[in-house]
Formats: sequence, C-alpha cells, structure tokens
Amino acid sequence: MMDMGTVKSIEWVGELDGHVAIIDQTLLPAKLVVLKCQDLDTIWEAIKSLRVRGAPAIGIAAAMGLVLGVRREPDQDVATFLKRVDEAADYLASSRPTAVNLFWALDRMRCKARAMGTSSVGEIKRALLEEAKRIREEDAAMCRAIGRCGEQLIKDGAGIMTHCNAGGLATAELGTALAPMYLAHEAGRRFRVFTCETRPLLQGSRLTAWELSQAGIDVTVLCDSMAGWLMARGEVDLVITGADRVAANGDAANKIGTYGLAVLADAHKVPFYVAAPSSSFDRSISSGSRIPIEERDADEIRRGFGRLTAPPDVSCLCPAFDVTPARLIHGLITERGLVQPVNELRIREVLGE
Ligand code: MRU
Repeated sequence: MMDMGTVKSIEWVGELDGHVAIIDQTLLPAKLVVLKCQDLDTIWEAIKSLRVRGAPAIGIAAAMGLVLGVRREPDQDVATFLKRVDEAADYLASSRPTAVNLFWALDRMRCKARAMGTSSVGEIKRALLEEAKRIREEDAAMCRAIGRCGEQLIKDGAGIMTHCNAGGLATAELGTALAPMYLAHEAGRRFRVFTCETRPLLQGSRLTAWELSQAGIDVTVLCDSMAGWLMARGEVDLVITGADRVAANGDAANKIGTYGLAVLADAHKVPFYVAAPSSSFDRSISSGSRIPIEERDADEIRRGFGRLTAPPDVSCLCPAFDVTPARLIHGLITERGLVQPVNELRIREVLGE
C-alpha cells in the first residue's frame, strides 16, 4: 500500500471549524509538507498551482473548499446563503478547466445545498461538510474497485508504463492507474513500472516514482522521449494512464504526452488502458474535441523549477493536456468494470445511463 505514514493526500480535519489538510505536491519528493487550508482563496490557489492535483483530488479539494468558503456566513435567509454557495462554487470552478471532477463535485455540492429545503443555514453548512467528506470516501472506494478491475491485467513479470501521476496523491487513496499496481503488488505479483518523467512539471518522476517506491514497487523513471525506444525493445507489456475527462464516445483527456504514448503503444502493439472513475466521465460531450484544454504559464517550460531552461523570452507552447481518441484505447478500467471495446454503447452498458 502507499505508505505516506498516516498522511493522506487530502482530508478534512475536525468539525465545521476545522481545516483541510493537503500534501503540498509541488514540494515532493524533496519535502513532505502538509498544508493547513482554512479559507477559500488558499484552496483556489492550491488547485491552480498544483499543490493539490489529479482529477479526483481536485474534485475533493473543491468540495471541501466550498465548505471553507461558506462556513462563516451569518445565519441569514436561506436564499442569500444559497447565493453565497453559488458564488464560492463559481470561483472554485475558475481554478482549472480540464478535469471534469472539479465541476462534478461542485455541482453535487450545489445540489446538496438546494435539496436541504426548509433547513436552517447551520444545518445546510453541516450537510455540506458531510457531503464533501462523502465525496472523499466514495473516491477511495471507487479507486479500490478500479484496482480490483485492473489487477487481472497485470501478469507476473510484466513491464507496465504509466504517465504523469494517477496514484494515491491524485485521489483520496490508491489512485486510478496505480490502483491495479498496488493490488497486484499486495497479491504478491512481481512486475516493473516505467514512469515517464512527464514534462514540464515532472509528476511522473517526482510523484509516481516517489509513491511507488515508498510502497516497495519496482519503479524506473524515463524521460518522455524514451518511451518508444523502450517499447521497441519489447519491455512494455501494457500502458495504464489516468484521465481528466472522458467524453461520451470514450475519447480521454489526460496529461500532455498521453496521446503520443498511445500512438507509440499502437505502433508497437502494446495494449493501452485508461483508468478512471465514473466521476471523470463527461457524457454531456459527444467527443474529446469538446474538452477544454488548460494552457499553463509558458514559464513552466522556460524557467523549469526556477532555472532558465529556454531563452527567457522565447515563445513556448504550454497545453497541460491532450486527448487520446477512443480508437487507441484498448480498455477503460472503471469502478464498475472494464469498458472494452471503447465506444459509447459499451460505456453506457458498463456505467449505466
Ligand atoms: O496537471 P495534473 O497534474 O493535475 O494532471 C493530472 C493528470 O493528468 C492525471 O493523470 C489525471 O488527473 C488522473 S489522476 C487520477
């Protein structure tokens, strides 16, 4: 199991007057620092700057951030309070555009507040806190179920490639892409994980390598550009990545570089899987072309980790995600089962309407 001691990637500590504790992922692997977030702005900044990151963790952070944003509202009429809930939710929704879990969690919180009918403002606040905690607990359960679904794909002696970090840090527990690896490891299977470093922010080398090695799983970091070379040598039996948003037809947005890996996997006849909970599916959009792709500050490329890594004023492309078309995805590993082949009908059969 991921061994971060007793530290969780994100959790609510205490009662309504408590705080949100998050591991500051920008400092890993050098330092394991837990941030104490007490207000809405701190959570917004933590999401924006990737202190908390990964689609499910962003959703949990937003739900908890919403509670922080409204918990000190005076006991006023419910309509005014619901307006504050909407304002806080709209603000949090402006932090990052691609991971649908953010909007999914905020919608769920808005609906919870509205469904409270004739309750007092105090009761709605407490119900919102319970809902945010439930979103976290459900995510942990979904990750474990994804692990059980995907574990059978990992044979003894396998070489598995992954990209970015879709592990315990990116979720409540265990992760999505990494959950099958944790369970296969627990079951005593031996396998090797290759994690692409994931330029420009290095979630693969900083985070995936850190959490897998903490768990005693054999992990090797490679530069993104080495993936094809490794596949050509026959060392990769399967690829598993996470997703930030899966469209109705199965096209999946994930960290920039995922699409390239899927093309390479296809060229080398390596099965390419995407692991994602139902909260990462956006069935309101027909295909991946409608997924908004976050553009990040070009200085993440020009001044990588504070060092000049390109001429200071050179123009840079900085999309944070790309979309892998369903036809390149061998299967979608979900908490409700394996979607295979990947198409709209099969998604409906496995996930329900
Ligand atoms: O920019 P990030 O680090 O938030 O990107 C994260 C990813 O691309 C993950 O693979 C995805 O969110 C799935 S996390 C279970």
